[in-house]
Amino acid sequence: MSVLPVSTEYTANPKRYDHIAYRRCGCSGIHLPIISLGLWHNFGGVDTFENCRAMVRTAFDTGITHFDLANNYGPPPGSAEETFGRILQKDFRNYRDELIISSKAGYDMWPGPYGDFGSRKYLVASLDQSLKRMGLDYVDIFYHHRPDPNTPIEESMGALDHIVRTGKALYVGISNYRPKEARLAIKILRQMGTPCLIHQPNYNMFDRWVEEGLLDVLTEESVGCIVFSPLAQGILTNRYLEGIPADSRVGRSGVFLSAEDLTEQRMAKVQKLNEIAKAHGLTMAQLAINWTLRRPEVTSALIGASKPQQITEIVQGTMKLEFSKDELLEIESVLSNQS
Ligand SMILES: NC(=O)c1ccc[n+]([C@@H]2O[C@H](COP(=O)([O-])OP(=O)(O)OC[C@H]3O[C@@H](n4cnc5c(N)ncnc54)[C@H](OP(=O)(O)O)[C@@H]3O)[C@@H](O)[C@H]2O)c1
Repeated sequence: MSVLPVSTEYTANPKRYDHIAYRRCGCSGIHLPIISLGLWHNFGGVDTFENCRAMVRTAFDTGITHFDLANNYGPPPGSAEETFGRILQKDFRNYRDELIISSKAGYDMWPGPYGDFGSRKYLVASLDQSLKRMGLDYVDIFYHHRPDPNTPIEESMGALDHIVRTGKALYVGISNYRPKEARLAIKILRQMGTPCLIHQPNYNMFDRWVEEGLLDVLTEESVGCIVFSPLAQGILTNRYLEGIPADSRVGRSGVFLSAEDLTEQRMAKVQKLNEIAKAHGLTMAQLAINWTLRRPEVTSALIGASKPQQITEIVQGTMKLEFSKDELLEIESVLSNQS
């Protein structure tokens, strides 16, 4: 990939807080930008460092203060945290207190019985490794990445509580927990004196499970919500409207998103949604993001990117967040069309 040279000295844009809105995360003292940047893809050891660096700079320059990682992001696993650590060291040493950095553990990370799921052993050891890779003393948010059906939830939540008490995370969250287990986890954490800051579920125009109970639970419990894959990994953009570009997620790897996911029915909907977006002066990606943010329960939309311009485009689109009733109905009629 050819990437423009990044200047070595970085000084953040002095107007960085003029571009984006911030929402309070649940009933906590933390505000998150309505757009956050995730490093799941395109920040691994296999990717071009200068492009990763340019994306993080662009994000921060447009007011994105929140960067989301996990132990296993790469490839190879762990390398996204290493990349991010290098970027922090080179460019962000003077900005640590303006950043909300998160990491997670819960998926398969190292061999043997202690590198997966939700034991106290795994969660505590994994965060220690993440901190080393990123060169940090603490993360702002540490998540249990997915529920573990075989470990008592009290043990996993106890590990999160311990992590906060030892100063290795300021706040904790849960990810991929369904409504009932989320409510229980939130209750246990509250009883331990470490409130759950945030839940991280997936949510986009094609995957709306959170509307069936989870968002109600989070409102009732005053917990924030950051939604991942709001662009359905890129399907809800103009990326695949004319085939599969070689530099796209499908074109490059096809592991987490493959050509089979670009079904005729889905792509027909994206074509129609794209027309709606255009009629409102938005791009497809902007429409999809703003649609997730129409829900007041959503604190932040957690996007991924492969190029700095994608981030700029999305942040610019948040200048038009309001939807009229008719606009929402129009979108709904496309989404609910079964043909
Ligand atoms: N908790 C969990 O279990 C979990 C799971 C998955 C993700 N996450 C988090 O959520 C983050 C985002 O996930 P995601 O990458 O799937 O999110 P996404 O925002 O749905 O998809 C990101 C992809 O959309 C495309 N894109 C972004 N902006 C665009 C634009 N303006 N125009 C055209 N295409 C655009 C890019 O695809 P190309 O690469 O093809 O250019 C980009 O890589 C992850 O990094 C991670 O932090 C969490």
